[in-house]
Amino acid sequence: MDTPYTFDLNNPDFIPDRYDNHIRRTLTAMRGQYLDTAAFEAMLAADDQLLYEVYEFHRPHEPGELLHGISIVHPGKVGDEYFMTKGHFHTVLDTSEVYYCLKGEGYMVMETPEGDWAAAELRPGKALYVLPRWAHRSVNTGAGDLVTLFVYPGNAGHDYGTIEQQGFRKLVVERDGRPEIVDNPRWGSKQ
Ligand code: PA5
Ligand code: NI
Repeated sequence: MDTPYTFDLNNPDFIPDRYDNHIRRTLTAMRGQYLDTAAFEAMLAADDQLLYEVYEFHRPHEPGELLHGISIVHPGKVGDEYFMTKGHFHTVLDTSEVYYCLKGEGYMVMETPEGDWAAAELRPGKALYVLPRWAHRSVNTGAGDLVTLFVYPGNAGHDYGTIEQQGFRKLVVERDGRPEIVDNPRWGSKQ
């Protein structure tokens, strides 16, 4: 596309009326990430459920560009851990990201290579700035879809490998019917 463009999110599910790429991630993509591996394997054996979807626009992966799209995490849990995205550092660590929550409820769980962590609540109307160096993962703690709009620099890239290897320091689990942020007992070990 070589002229400025708009897209319309004016529908209950906030699916853009046009996009270039639709990513669908199922349980298979999350092997090793959920703490309760028995629950994970049992769910996977029954059905390789769709966990989240991303609608993207193709733009060049250059610093002057802003990559953008819509992320939709469906509701559910593996054991008592809520459905979530893989999560990643940006390959170019010093790149940031903006999120705007359109629908649903959840958390953005974040951490730095230096050991800091943070969890930001996501609710419709909440905007979030993920600083450079902070890995980020969306977690859906609600009963419906968690929908966010995201924007990040064209040269950022996705480093999934680090999180696949070490996990996130914090997990979001259901305790007495409510979300709670707890330590990941397996953090740092091979997930
Ligand atoms: O750029 C982002 O951080 C988001 O668009 C995510 O890519 C999206 O939410 C899906 O998560 P992940 O890339 O960790 O699978
Ligand atoms: Ni990102």
